[in-house]
Amino acid sequence: MWLYVLLALLALLLLRRWHRERQTVPGLSERHVLITGCDSGFGNLLARQLDARGLRVLAACLSEAGAAQLRAATSERLQTVLLDVTSSKSIADVTAWVRQRVGDQGLWGLVNNAGIAIPTAPNEWLSKEDFVKVLDVNLVGLVEVTLSLLPLVRRARGRVVNVASVMGRVSFFGGGYCISKYGVEAFSDSLRLEMRRFGVKVCVIEPGYFKTMITNVESLEKNFYSCWEKLPEEIKTSYGESYLKQFVVMLKLLQKTYNSDLSLVTNCMEHALTSVHPRSRYSAGWDAKLLYLPVSYLPSALSDALFALFYPK
Ligand SMILES: NC(=O)c1ccc[n+]([C@@H]2O[C@H](COP(=O)([O-])OP(=O)(O)OC[C@H]3O[C@@H](n4cnc5c(N)ncnc54)[C@H](OP(=O)(O)O)[C@@H]3O)[C@@H](O)[C@H]2O)c1
Repeated sequence: MWLYVLLALLALLLLRRWHRERQTVPGLSERHVLITGCDSGFGNLLARQLDARGLRVLAACLSEAGAAQLRAATSERLQTVLLDVTSSKSIADVTAWVRQRVGDQGLWGLVNNAGIAIPTAPNEWLSKEDFVKVLDVNLVGLVEVTLSLLPLVRRARGRVVNVASVMGRVSFFGGGYCISKYGVEAFSDSLRLEMRRFGVKVCVIEPGYFKTMITNVESLEKNFYSCWEKLPEEIKTSYGESYLKQFVVMLKLLQKTYNSDLSLVTNCMEHALTSVHPRSRYSAGWDAKLLYLPVSYLPSALSDALFALFYPK
């Protein structure tokens, strides 16, 4: 008897959640969304997806070539702008450009998507500059873009959508990438609390591994070899060249688990921007849901033992 009652309650809760999540914000065609890193990958697909849905997309690209390609593939409603998130001047210029376009209505959505992963390697193989390079784009750039555009987002009582990663929940390789994504999680959590009183929602996207430029194996392999070449002899001898080779093998194994349907991620971003009741966190990809996020709740001794299986011996 109690089991049936519990099952019925659970079904009701799921039904309520499904119903809440299906409610869509009205007047989407009048709302502006700025997306960073639209040259390729998730940002590029999201820009095309939101454009097709009728939103006013302001697509920030790093290169003119990326911007031109995107304009050729989208409607005249979509506008592009060049943005390097590591440059304060570029951020200030883009903020002024956005302000002109959105006027009193404000900016409905800011999607902080731009990111890099290289240089990455075992921590000891990297320099401070290697860490800073990644942190500058993925974390400091994201923070500066957000601070600069937040007044416009507040005016619209809109959304900030930050692209973190499952690597912001577990960290099993060195360099600035995982650190930056843990930072994005922390920044988003405090911002979400602060923005409640203004009606602004802050959402975090946590994709698993997907086939994009950032996960391109050839580039990552080249980066490992270039880090190795620069190492002092003492470190090379301590690790041994076989460590490097096994590391590359591990990377190639990991590549086989990559998701190729990028829409799993962009659909989460779209929901965060268009649903009346967006989630605080979205996980995307089978590996995120079934592997990395569950592992993130394990005691360190167990998660270490699991990841150590894939580490060079
Ligand atoms: N793919 C995955 O498995 C995965 C998993 C979890 C999280 N993510 C996150 O998802 C986001 C998008 O990555 P992606 O997978 O779509 O890779 P991607 O195709 O490499 O896209 C990254 C975008 O960021 C741009 N960018 C790089 N440096 C920039 C800068 N300084 N200023 C402005 N834009 C810059 C890139 O421009 P260029 O193309 O011109 O360099 C590119 O358009 C990143 O934050 C990444 O960390 C990816």
